Amino acid sequence: MPGLVIVGAQWGDEGKGKVTDLLAERADVVIRFQGGNNAGHTIIRDGETFKFHLIPSGILYPGKTCAIGNGVVIDPGVLTGEIEGLRERGVDISGLRVSANAHLIMPYHVLLDTAGEIRLGKLEIGTTRRGIGPCYADKASRLGIRVQDLLDEKILRKKIMAAMEPKQQMLRPFVKDPALDLHTMTETYMTYGHRLEPHIADTAKLCWDALDRDATVLFEGAQGTMLDLDHGTYPFVTSSNPIAGSATIGAGVGPGDLNEVWGIAKAYATRVGAGPFPTELDDEMGELLRERGGEVGTTTGRDRRTGWIDTVALRYGRRLNGLTALVVTKLDVLSGIDPLRICVRYRHPDGAVFDEFPYHQSIIHAVEPEYEEMPGFEGDISAARREEDLPAEARDYLNALTDHTGVPVVLVGVGPGREQVIWMGKEAEQRLSAAT
Ligand code: IMP
Repeated sequence: MPGLVIVGAQWGDEGKGKVTDLLAERADVVIRFQGGNNAGHTIIRDGETFKFHLIPSGILYPGKTCAIGNGVVIDPGVLTGEIEGLRERGVDISGLRVSANAHLIMPYHVLLDTAGEIRLGKLEIGTTRRGIGPCYADKASRLGIRVQDLLDEKILRKKIMAAMEPKQQMLRPFVKDPALDLHTMTETYMTYGHRLEPHIADTAKLCWDALDRDATVLFEGAQGTMLDLDHGTYPFVTSSNPIAGSATIGAGVGPGDLNEVWGIAKAYATRVGAGPFPTELDDEMGELLRERGGEVGTTTGRDRRTGWIDTVALRYGRRLNGLTALVVTKLDVLSGIDPLRICVRYRHPDGAVFDEFPYHQSIIHAVEPEYEEMPGFEGDISAARREEDLPAEARDYLNALTDHTGVPVVLVGVGPGREQVIWMGKEAEQRLSAAT
């Protein structure tokens, strides 16, 4: 005890990296539990920008253990690249641990991801094309290659052969791709293995030991609730479970070890890739949010779709994750926009009203958002550090989010820097002391 889970409460890209970075200071262990290098975190520390796709954000604190849990799918080329990049910048990475049971993204996964999207044509999911889906599919088919396989050439070669065999037909268009040559692939992956070996560990045991000695473990989620494989807007989802419960499986702890669950939400909403997005703004306001918020994907460089904040989806997220606190990021982006809109329910063209997120895909695709309008706020709030520094309208907006979700807002982001945050009074103190 205690365990604190950070989850995306929307469609990903909520600013989880910055929150994890802030909380990592108080934690002993930071562990990622799902997803792969489809995620991307940008952290600005003392004016220096760091971008991570796999390594937990806490790595910037010397002495912390930063783990990549068994539930993560790892592209070892990307991971070794990140390790090298951090080393070159003088960051101590001796605390990095990689689960021996995590699955590896192989060159054929990346090719199959792209081929699958091309085959779907107009029906494409809009994946990041990093091989995430095919890798998790192999894991479920028990054809996956795991980190520990990198330590034994014979096993590695055998497993790659077994995994490629059933894919021959799908891989036919790529037969000449040198990355698919069995010998080259085995050699390349053995090299990754040698480089990763000092970091390979039993990360579940490491979490257990930390919790057992009352140290704080931070479980860092990737993507967001609405991209959850089971509960999101399937099939326009990722291939893992970004919701909080998944931390038990992806890190190897018991449900009782997750004491606090903090949901991260932007003050508005964004989505990358295809799929329903009820509050999407296809107009000048959407463009304004995109421009002001710098809404371009860290991983793929794609423009993000933008819209008003959606409390129907956030209430759904509260329920699925058991949220104990809400963190609202990028509030500064809304400054000067008047009125502000908060989606409070959906209405179907046939007149049906939905206060709860509907389970049926046809309904989700057809609903229109209903908004509560709130007066906007003016001025630059990026220097605000206390709740009282915020204009009354901004505070009203945050209070309305708490009212509509039933979850207290404990932390607010007012700019990209790690110091540009506001801890929200007593509520923040209570949740923080429960969490750390
Ligand atoms: P995949 O995870 O690459 O298979 O992509 C599936 C869907 O999840 C696509 O709509 C992606 O845009 C979306 N997605 C995956 N990772 C992220 C993320 O870190 N942030 C936002 N969207 C993501």
